[in-house]
Amino acid sequence: MSRPQVLLTRRIPAKALARIEEMCDVEFLDGGSLTAAELAAKVPGKHGLVTMFIDPVDAAVLAAATDLKVVATVAVGYNNIDMTAAKARGIVVTNTPDVLTEATADLTMAILLGMTRRIVEGDRLVRKGGWKGFSFDFMLGSDLRGKQMGIVGLGRIGRAVAARATAFGMRIAYTRGRPEPGDEAEAMPLDRLLATSDVVSLHCPLTPDTKHMIDQPALARMKRSAYLLNASRGPIVDEAALAWALENRLIAGAGLDVYEDEPKVHPGLLNLDNVVLVPHLGSATIETRTAMADLAAQNVVAVLSGKPPLTPVG
Ligand code: GLV
Repeated sequence: MSRPQVLLTRRIPAKALARIEEMCDVEFLDGGSLTAAELAAKVPGKHGLVTMFIDPVDAAVLAAATDLKVVATVAVGYNNIDMTAAKARGIVVTNTPDVLTEATADLTMAILLGMTRRIVEGDRLVRKGGWKGFSFDFMLGSDLRGKQMGIVGLGRIGRAVAARATAFGMRIAYTRGRPEPGDEAEAMPLDRLLATSDVVSLHCPLTPDTKHMIDQPALARMKRSAYLLNASRGPIVDEAALAWALENRLIAGAGLDVYEDEPKVHPGLLNLDNVVLVPHLGSATIETRTAMADLAAQNVVAVLSGKPPLTPVG
């Protein structure tokens, strides 16, 4: 029997690649961002497709992929894949949960501290020679101890952020989530969470329901002393509204790892000192990216060997 054909939209670490190459022929698309039309032109004849979260796997791509059995995205979020079309065509979709939870929660805390202790702003000041020496009331930030962390989306990553925030002395509130026994988090509706939290951290998937969930009215509901963190998906926040809220000091600050139209950033955010801007690095550690690629490879090999996938979605 001929070997299955697998298309990878990017190179992945050698160990994961070797796992796929053991039983499949592999083709790479080593490009930057691909359009759906470019991807559609490459999928005919492919049995497996390994994608990144930025690759648009829409209905037309899946329609062109007449032999496709599996789409393995190397990410936990899969809003880039048309799940209805995949289901209708019997194509298995897999993602990479769990292996990236801790790295993403670590990055969320890094952004939180970078923001509340003004680390990025301070670094910019020192580099441009603006530091005039110690002063008692210079660059004061905010404590975390005793404050409320409002988690929107108490899933794997939200819970890992909650554990870290608890260790920093914060109390946890949440909305949208799956509490587990032992969770010491107070459930509350979004409006109350926004109005009472000192930090609001977004960890829910992007769906039609969560798009622009944090809009102008939502931002206006937050405390003036509060911070917004987004390490989930950019379009959950209305970026223009956020720029307006930060500019007008409706909230104290924001930390973003994700954007509405990556890699573009709303120009209104670029000159503000009260926002920390990170280039989508949530899962970007060597260990985590290696584990993600390996899990995606295992999913491809399982499905193309007629076995159940390890981490299917949908
Ligand atoms: C990255 O953004 C992911 O969803 O894993």
